[in-house]
Amino acid sequence: MIELRGRQRPGRARIPLVLALLCATSGAVADCATFTIIGDRIEFPLAGIEGDAEAGARVAQDRQRGDCVICHQLPLPNDRFHGNLGPDLTTVGARLSAAQIRLRVAANRQLNQESIMPDYCLSGDRHRVAPAHRDRPLLTAREIEDLVVWLSTLGNPETQP
Ligand code: HEC
Repeated sequence: MIELRGRQRPGRARIPLVLALLCATSGAVADCATFTIIGDRIEFPLAGIEGDAEAGARVAQDRQRGDCVICHQLPLPNDRFHGNLGPDLTTVGARLSAAQIRLRVAANRQLNQESIMPDYCLSGDRHRVAPAHRDRPLLTAREIEDLVVWLSTLGNPETQP
C-alpha cells in the first residue's frame, strides 16, 4: 500500500511521493481531472480552475451534489440538519491549507482507505451510491475547486470577508 501520511511519519514526509491519478471518464460524462499527490496534498488546482467560494457553499449544501452537510457541520445557516459522522468543518481553513483540503475532497481514501467519505474526484468501486453514479466522479473539477476555495476561507483570518 502507498503510505501518503507525511504528517505521521516525518522521516518519510520529505520524500516527494508523487502519485498521478487519472480520473477522467469517457465521453459525455463531465470528467474530473488528472492530479498529482505530494505528501498529503494536491498542490495545484484541478484542471487549472479557479474556484468560486459562493458556488462552493452551494455545492456543499446541495443534496444532489456535494451533500457534505450529511456528515459535516458547516456554516450554512439555512440548513438545520448537519451530520456529525465527519469532523466539524466550520473552521477547517484554519487547520488545513487549500492543497490539503483539495486532496481530502478529491481523493480522501488515499489518506484513509477505510474512510466513509467518498472520493469525489475518482470514479470506481462505490457501494454507497446510486448505480447511476458508480462509474463516474461524484463532482466535477470545477465543483471541487469551488469547495476548496470556500472551505479555505472558513476560520481563516486572512480570507475572512
Ligand atoms: C459519508 C460521510 C461524509 C461525507 C458525505 C463527506 N465527508 Fe468529509 N469526512 C468524513 C469523515 C469521516 C472524515 C474524517 C477523515 C476520514 O475519515 O478520512 C472527513 C474528513 C473531511 C475533511 C478533512 C477534515 C479535517 O479536519 O481533517 C474535509 C476537508 C472534508 N471531509 C470535506 C468534505 C466535503 C467538502 C464533503 C462534500 C463534498 C464531504 N467531506 C463529504 C465523512 C464525510
